[in-house]
Amino acid sequence: MSRASIRVWVDLPQATIAANLYGHFAEHLGRCIYEGIWVGPASRIPNENGLRLDVLAALKQLRAPVVRWPGGCFADDYHWRDGVGPRDTRPKTMNIWWQQTEPNEFGTDEFLRFCRAVGCDPYLCANVGSGTPQEARAWLEYCNFGGDTTLTALRAANGHPAPYGVRHWGVGNENWGCGGGFSPEQYAQEFARFSVYLRAVDPVIELVASGAGMDLANPILMRWNHDFCAAMPHAHLIDHLAMHAYFARGKGAEFHDAEHYALFGDLVTFEREIERADHVLGYFYPHKRVGLIIDEWGVWHPEATVDNGLEQPNTLRDALFAASCLNLFHRHARRIVMANIAQTINVLQCLAITEEDRMALTPTYHVYDMMRPHMGARLLTSEVETPTFEAHPVGLHAKQAVPLLNASASIAGKKVFLSVVNPSVDQPIETPIDLRGAGIAAVSGRVLTSASPRDANTIAAPKTVTPKRVKVEASGGGFTCVLPPCSLTTLTIALA
Ligand code: AHR
Repeated sequence: MSRASIRVWVDLPQATIAANLYGHFAEHLGRCIYEGIWVGPASRIPNENGLRLDVLAALKQLRAPVVRWPGGCFADDYHWRDGVGPRDTRPKTMNIWWQQTEPNEFGTDEFLRFCRAVGCDPYLCANVGSGTPQEARAWLEYCNFGGDTTLTALRAANGHPAPYGVRHWGVGNENWGCGGGFSPEQYAQEFARFSVYLRAVDPVIELVASGAGMDLANPILMRWNHDFCAAMPHAHLIDHLAMHAYFARGKGAEFHDAEHYALFGDLVTFEREIERADHVLGYFYPHKRVGLIIDEWGVWHPEATVDNGLEQPNTLRDALFAASCLNLFHRHARRIVMANIAQTINVLQCLAITEEDRMALTPTYHVYDMMRPHMGARLLTSEVETPTFEAHPVGLHAKQAVPLLNASASIAGKKVFLSVVNPSVDQPIETPIDLRGAGIAAVSGRVLTSASPRDANTIAAPKTVTPKRVKVEASGGGFTCVLPPCSLTTLTIALA
């Protein structure tokens, strides 16, 4: 059996892992909002004033911390006034990006009610591409202002006299493309123009600029974050920079082993891009901690097209990839303040799929459930000695040896949490785990695995991939785990 080892330094805590790293993204796209979240009060599907009860319960169980809405590309063609007021008077509009009719039944008040029901924070994305600063600032006034204006009276008439206090505001989305086709310099001007007025309406909001992520073949996007920051020197206006990262290797449930490993190899590039964004923010804003937000990320398989509302298989491989990304985000907790997997229900790497009144949790859902003890805990210094595999990470020039296991550890009170991914398709890995700086009282664990990385949960077979408890015997400062092939193992270690 192959061997690895993990060392965790209990007395070397680092940054706090923001709970918002476990955030979500829900766009008016396919069946994410309509059917997935909103069925309307008249539906026979059990609902709370239009919001599906099974989905609310699933997200509550995860303690979902934040949801980004209404897009995505949809955001830069969304006019918020279409979605407030009596539902039967709202216009039907064209959803240009996703080729659907938008009924506007689910608007600002419905979304904010959804957030309240889930217990999460809202993160709104304002329309820069086809909107105006006046429209964006009016939306903020509608949501957050406590004084007496026509817009706050409208909010009260729509059932919410008290301000909502929405804290996170995205200033557009992918503004090089569907968000207006700007150059980084033009977007810097737009960002400043919008942000000046948004800040004046509510000085405590956090403004998120639209950055670029993994578009390594496009020379403009590769330099976007740098060139945007260089052209937008008003440090007081920017609180966070957003990046997006989508991945694909082979098809969703049909892929060769080489494609399986290639997906995990792409984590090398993802980490490099995160580090470069970190350096850009450190260079341009040395006196301020501008957070990095990865507000769209996940696998986007070739099966997901506009024609099918971006629906795709969601397998164990995807779930292990998500767990590996979360481990990566933890390790960069000093800079990354939020991450929003795309998208919550039915679309892309969703956490649940629905069909009529039935719902199935995807393997990725179980990753969020298993790893949530890391939310708000302190990252611990850890070292992983691991076998490697060979892969050619996207955007890089050559093959390289990629670490097989990835892990992260955190601490809250007298408990250490450790999450380890073994993506090997056939190798169990015997792994001694050594805690430095503390003794162990007890260990409990769960493992997510299945016969094949291609396994998925469906409406007909919703429990194919579900976590199981594992027994771990520990003594002194260490113990040994056998990490099964294609698995996520999460351990809770009570300190003596
Ligand atoms: O998540 C689907 C789309 O991907 C979003 O609308 C857009 O921002 C990104 O390109």
